[in-house]
Amino acid sequence: MEIYRELAGLRAALEAARASGREVALVPTMGALHAGHIALVEAARRPGTTVVASIFVNPRQFGAGEDLSRYPRKETSDIAMLTEAGCDLLWLPPVEQMYPDGFATIVSVSGVSEGLDGAARPGHFDGVATVVAKLFNQVRPTRAFFGEKDFQQLAVVRRMVTDLDVEVEITGVPTQREDDGLALSSRNVYLSPEERQRAVALPRALGIAARAIRGGSDSAKALDDATAALTAAGFEVDYVALVDAETLSPQPTPGRRRQLLAAARLGKTRLIDNLAVDLG
Ligand code: PAJ
Repeated sequence: MEIYRELAGLRAALEAARASGREVALVPTMGALHAGHIALVEAARRPGTTVVASIFVNPRQFGAGEDLSRYPRKETSDIAMLTEAGCDLLWLPPVEQMYPDGFATIVSVSGVSEGLDGAARPGHFDGVATVVAKLFNQVRPTRAFFGEKDFQQLAVVRRMVTDLDVEVEITGVPTQREDDGLALSSRNVYLSPEERQRAVALPRALGIAARAIRGGSDSAKALDDATAALTAAGFEVDYVALVDAETLSPQPTPGRRRQLLAAARLGKTRLIDNLAVDLG
């Protein structure tokens, strides 16, 4: 796997790949890689495609008091995992490459960025949209891969790509989970062994609520029950919400798919998860 830390080198390598007829696919990450990230690399792999992963812990998507300074950094094992997964090229920009002195542009996607995590983490999705727009311009992929685990982020990226006429096809990859159902996340390493056991309440509560709503139960009651189950497991709940799977509006349009989304804190660790209500 080739590794670039400087934009000119990255661009030259990708120009050469394109000139020889290869397609470029991008998997953006913040590192501390796990099998969820690797599933994105595997989805991106295809004959004739150069797969580029990026690792950049993006300061602009962390709020004051969030975990930027303690966010896990594991460059050596990340490189080994990406090499093993068949990633062709790794883009590892230093902060000064991404945000040089004088940097002044913010990409802000209204509507879909505003509720849920956007409300709980002001400015977070501006940071995400800005860095993803930069990564798209740096790498110029024809396809890019994002996890459904970060469901609102995926919706924000899709909206931005549509609105800004970015020539990239976005693919959402299903959430990869531990055997007990907990979604894989770089932040799971923050959980103590005891918190890790209780964390399974999050996917369980979503599963129970999704089945109840699918079965015709009152959705407000199903959301209340999920909140109560999370609270009983020791979580502080930010939200449990049923939304339109495309717009993330809390008033799902009849006939459109609905998604259950939740965010909750266990001690200092904030976990998110989501589940489709309408299948097939
Ligand atoms: P990060 O949290 O490192 O995640 C990188 C990508 O991996 C995202 O698309 C995320 O949805 C996906 N991912 C994480 N856990 C997953 C799981 N359990 N199953 C499937 N996919 C999973 O998300 C970010 O970084 C950043 O916001 C980024 C898009 C890189 C912009 O900075």
